[in-house]
Formats: sequence, structure tokens, C-alpha cells
Amino acid sequence: MFKALLLTEEAGKVTPAIRELDEQALPPGDVTVAVDYSSINYKDGLVVTGSGGLVKRYPHVPGIDFAGKVLESSHASWRKGDAVVLTGWRVGEVQWGGCAQRARVNGDWLVPLPAGLDSRQAMIIGTAGFTAMLAVMALEAHGTQPAAGEILVTGAAGGVGSVATALLAQRGYQVVASTGRAEAHEFLHQLGAGAVIDRSAFADVAKRPLETERWAACIDSVGGNTLARVLAQAKYGAAVAAVGLAGGSKLEHTVIPFLLRGVSLLGIDSVMCPRERRIAAWKLLQSELSPEHMDALATLVPLAEVPRVAADILQGKVRGRVVVDVNA
Ligand SMILES: NC(=O)c1ccc[n+]([C@@H]2O[C@H](COP(=O)([O-])OP(=O)(O)OC[C@H]3O[C@@H](n4cnc5c(N)ncnc54)[C@H](OP(=O)(O)O)[C@@H]3O)[C@@H](O)[C@H]2O)c1
Repeated sequence: MFKALLLTEEAGKVTPAIRELDEQALPPGDVTVAVDYSSINYKDGLVVTGSGGLVKRYPHVPGIDFAGKVLESSHASWRKGDAVVLTGWRVGEVQWGGCAQRARVNGDWLVPLPAGLDSRQAMIIGTAGFTAMLAVMALEAHGTQPAAGEILVTGAAGGVGSVATALLAQRGYQVVASTGRAEAHEFLHQLGAGAVIDRSAFADVAKRPLETERWAACIDSVGGNTLARVLAQAKYGAAVAAVGLAGGSKLEHTVIPFLLRGVSLLGIDSVMCPRERRIAAWKLLQSELSPEHMDALATLVPLAEVPRVAADILQGKVRGRVVVDVNA
């Protein structure tokens, strides 16, 4: 038997409850993992509150990421005791996820826990941090360099934004962090932001296709009007990594910044990201995020707190990263 946060659905209403389940209830898969930690990402907020239509079958165990140790494996790459991390592959959406003491998945989806990280630290990074690293890698593959000028991070006090701020600052970029929370300014400066601006600067619909050039690059978790305004303010040749939709999924803009300023919009997907890029991203995360940075980003909660934090994250109230101790 193992403990899990189980979501049930009745007449469209999703109810979370902690339950003891039999291992036989786990979904098919060739690796069974004893989960140490999961984490709470924006998508977990949607799943746990029953918003967004991501879950098609109930009962369901949420948790789009987890870290733990292999208990049983019939997969050639994994043996009992191996320390592993999972993010994405629609685990926690279409298949049971990490908010449980046990998970069963396809072994192809697992990556080894990088040497030098423990499973709590891996979940401080989690899907949000992993995605932030993918965005940094995409910007640099485009040619972005610290000397290019100010780089904007939107939704900076959230999960993706806070890890992106720390990673970029560590790499020597001049980070401008955009947040709607005055109380997060000090936190963002601690992570290495050189300047913090209020997100209201990007809230209004773009009136002109081009505004004064400012950003050498951007990692955007917000989407909507914010992304449109950032594109209008992007410098000649700049790249903007589109990561999220916390402020809206609709992008209303003209193609003018692409045509007159050579601006590039780079799409970032962490869910189906190929294995080689996953391993490369985790290696960089391990070497670039200090234990102090990780501790500064993290709040630890027990499984029972997941429903509360899930509601909070959808309202933009969660600062940094929330790690779930599934054994607490
Ligand atoms: N592409 C991928 O593979 C991938 C992977 C992970 C996440 N994501 C997406 O990235 C986004 C961020 O995820 P997360 O886990 O970091 O969530 P999060 O912790 O909630 O961060 C989102 C941040 O966006 C800002 N925000 C929230 N509502 C807003 C609004 N209405 N207008 C403007 N800003 C708003 C808030 O930052 P401030 O308080 O600082 O303003 C909030 O903390 C989500 O949309 C998520 O689905 C995508």
C-alpha cells in the first residue's frame, strides 16, 4: 500500500483527498519508483483544481514531475536503487503522476539524477527550472550573449521566472525581472536581477507594432499582451523565448518586429523534449545553480498542502518553487 493524493470527479467537480492505494492500482509501465519528492507547477494547479481539461480519466494522481529511487524495473537502463528524475511526457495529466509515494512509468521517460544533486534539489528545479534552462539554451543557440544588453524575465517571481533569473544572472546577463509583486523585489535582487520592474508596464494592448528598442532577449512565462509588448520592444536581432501563458494564451500582434527588426520568437516545450537535450539541461542545472540559490527558491510542503498551493499558483501567489514531500 502507498499514500497518494487522489483526484476524483463528480458532475464536473474535482475533489482531492489523500488515500492509501494498492500498488496494483498503478498504471502500466516498466519501472516502479519510490517517490521522494514532487513539486507544484502551474500545470499542477490546473490539474488539481480540475481546470483546463487536462485530465480525461478519473480517479487521477497529479504531479507532473518527481524524483526518487527505482524499486522495480524490467527496463534495460534501470536497476533497483537507481536515483531518477521525471519531468513531462504528460505524466500527471494523462497518466498518474508524482503526488504519491509510488509511481509507475515508461523507463524511457526517466533521466538519471545528476551527480551532485539530491532528490529534493532536483524537485526545487523541477519542470519549471528545467524549462527555464531549456529557454536559456535556446536563446544562446540563437546567439544571445551577455554583452548584448538587458534581458527581460517576465513572471519573474514564479517558478520558471525565478529559476530563469538565477540562471541568467549566474551566466553574467543583465537581468531585468518583471513582477506584479512589490514584496518579491528583494527576492529577485537576491537571485541576481540587476533591476526589477512592475509587470503593469506590459499589461496594456500594444498600440504600435514597434516601440523603443530595449530588450536583447526575453524569457516570457506570461504570454498574452505581455508577450506582444515585449516583441514590440525587442532590439534588432533579439530573441524571445515563449514559455508560458500565465497571463493569457492569445497573442495579438503584427509581424512587423519579425520583418523590420529581425526579432525571433522561440517556442519552448519541456514535455516532449528529446532525451539528449534533457540530459544536457540537467547537467547544466546541476553545475550552475548553487545549493544557496536552490534553498532561496524553495518552500517545502507535505502532500496534504498540495490542493491549497495548487489554487494559489493559478492566482500568481506562489513565490519561487514549491517542493512536495510525498512521505510527510
Ligand atoms: N513550455 C513549457 O514546457 C512549460 C513548462 C513549465 C511551465 N510552463 C508555463 O509557464 C508558465 C509559468 O509556469 P510556473 O510553473 O512558473 O507558474 P508560476 O509559478 O505561477 O509563475 C507564473 C508567474 O506569472 C506571473 N503571472 C501570473 N498571472 C499573471 C497575469 N494575469 N498577468 C501577468 N503575469 C502573471 C506571476 O509572476 P509575478 O508575480 O512575478 O508577476 C506568476 O508567479 C505557465 O503558463 C506554465 O504553464 C510551460
